[in-house]
Amino acid sequence: MTFARIAGTGSYLPDNIVTNRDLEERVDTSDQWIRDRTGIEQRHIALPGQSTVDLAEQAALRAIEAAGIDATDIDLIIFATTTPDKVFPSCACILQARLGIQGCPAFDIQAVCSGFVYALATAEKFIRTGTSKKALVIGAEVFSRILNWSDRTTCVLFGDGAGAVVLEANEEAGILSTHLHADGRYEKLLHVPCGVANDFDAVKAGQAFVEMKGNEVFKVAVNTLGQIVDETLEANQMQKSDIDWLVPHQANLRIIIATARKLNMSMDQVVMTVNRHGNTSAASIPLALDEAVRDGRIKRGEVVLLEAFGGGFTWGSALLRY
Ligand code: ACO
Repeated sequence: MTFARIAGTGSYLPDNIVTNRDLEERVDTSDQWIRDRTGIEQRHIALPGQSTVDLAEQAALRAIEAAGIDATDIDLIIFATTTPDKVFPSCACILQARLGIQGCPAFDIQAVCSGFVYALATAEKFIRTGTSKKALVIGAEVFSRILNWSDRTTCVLFGDGAGAVVLEANEEAGILSTHLHADGRYEKLLHVPCGVANDFDAVKAGQAFVEMKGNEVFKVAVNTLGQIVDETLEANQMQKSDIDWLVPHQANLRIIIATARKLNMSMDQVVMTVNRHGNTSAASIPLALDEAVRDGRIKRGEVVLLEAFGGGFTWGSALLRY
């Protein structure tokens, strides 16, 4: 059997850090409120002119280097983002050209905060079926561009960044299973209410902003993530104790703690970046994964659970032997 194994990881955060204290100057909020309700202390925000693909390019180069391959070995690019550089072409195609790759399939996936898990699951299918041998999977966002910086209920939550992995065909280990779901009935609890084909004037006026009914999203997120953990364990005939690491989407510390509790996991087994990165949407899981791989926490052979929940609603998980 052919698995899709993570051969290398990479990530990139813009240099510019915005602390909770900085936000106290902009909106009626406090460092204490943000820490208590979300666990966030700071976030990285892209500088004007820095685009999603700019961040992704750095993350991709690092992942390619870690995998010990040439960019031209890559035969598939899947790019998860909600904040693309252009309406078209896709970020995947723009990145493909920057990396000097030609001809391989390259496309974007839009599943908001679940985007990376969706992209990973898709790439895994290409590898398992033998269609691809080396896939570059990216999650990258400049979410700061779709935030209303005078809306305290959203602007304190998000940040910018990029993460990437190279997946390669391997006979021994890799992704064990992926589980993807969506329920479009929840569209209006978490959305940007305008786009190219709907109220484009608002987009042109620079008012394409995230709107979220945070506490309603919170409840669904906690329940849903609990269910996907069960679904993933059952599909693999595994016990909670078989999982070495949880790498969750980083939206809110309280949601992460609830999921860790559900798995009877100590917080030492949970990779946490939300305090330093905020919610970077599709970038959050690959950013966290790269951090824990590079600092030596996640080791070859260990079992890692990735899980995410986001706008759509969308949610999903991937269980892998690293
Ligand atoms: N500073 C101070 N007070 C604030 C702030 C702020 N930044 N934001 C809201 N408040 C106030 C509210 O106005 C409200 O005041 P009121 O009681 O006088 O009406 C009070 O704080 C409580 O507000 P809630 O929204 O009920 O606060 P809650 O504890 O639910 O925390 C939060 C809000 C952090 C947004 C939480 O609900 C959350 O994390 N939700 C889930 C987010 C998520 O997971 N999203 C999915 C992924 S994101 C994506 O896909 C794009």
